[in-house]
Amino acid sequence: MTRVISISNHKGGVGKTTSVVNLGAALANFKKKVLLVDMDPQANMSVSFGISDAEENVYMALKGEQILKPINVYKNLDIIASTLDLSGAETELSAEAGREYIFQELLEPIKANYDYVLIDCPPSLGLLTVNAFTASDEIFIPIQPHYLAIKGLTKILEVVNKIKKRLNKNLEITGVFVTMFDKRKILHKDVYETIVTYFQDRVFRTLIRENIALAEAPSAGLDIFRYDHNSNGADDYLHLAKEVIKSEKKDS
Ligand SMILES: Nc1ncnc2c1ncn2[C@@H]1O[C@H](COP(=O)(O)OP(=O)(O)O)[C@@H](O)[C@H]1O
Ligand SMILES: [Mg+2]
Repeated sequence: MTRVISISNHKGGVGKTTSVVNLGAALANFKKKVLLVDMDPQANMSVSFGISDAEENVYMALKGEQILKPINVYKNLDIIASTLDLSGAETELSAEAGREYIFQELLEPIKANYDYVLIDCPPSLGLLTVNAFTASDEIFIPIQPHYLAIKGLTKILEVVNKIKKRLNKNLEITGVFVTMFDKRKILHKDVYETIVTYFQDRVFRTLIRENIALAEAPSAGLDIFRYDHNSNGADDYLHLAKEVIKSEKKDS
């Protein structure tokens, strides 16, 4: 069974894109067939793989002008790229009938080719995110351990509940994980404890540590394993991938 997972948090800069790229690469290293979808008009995920201005992209597909054509980047790893045009999609599609289901429909014919589909969501909860959630079974939320980080999540929890009720009853938040963690900071430990209290067994035990190699890798167009496989970042995303794979049976 394919697991379709949206990586979402409407706050920007929390590590969504970094996590999609490197969790995706780690899963592919474990021989899982992986598709990564860039649903963010900023196209940071695509650029992280050295791909910009791809002719085949999610915008053209959402507009009905193409089918989804994955681009193979590494063994076991394909991506659907984004372009800046995607920023127009929210308004352009706003009057379309069934506008919340366009991406789900596009994904359906190719979904079975993959074990994992990870969707990199934009930092908003508009129509693109709704399309990602409607096509997903699961949502992972990366959280940066800031003061009030949990409070900021109220909005996304509301949207998830509405979508679950109206558009996709299978949708569940199955994974929350902390990014850019620094164990020397008491605040970070405190926030982690709060997250565990709130989300309980849905919190992954892996903490993604603050690691400069993770920030550098995209400018080389590489994932963390190809950029620096000895880094803490490589270690952490490998551990996270193991936890994700372990949770397969629980969810299916
Ligand atoms: N664990 C980490 N350690 C250090 N820098 C990180 C880490 N995770 C992400 N970053 C950097 O933080 C910034 C925001 O991350 P990004 O993944 O783009 O967030 P989002 O997609 O949520 O906006 C980027 O510059 C990225 O390289
Ligand atoms: Mg991003």
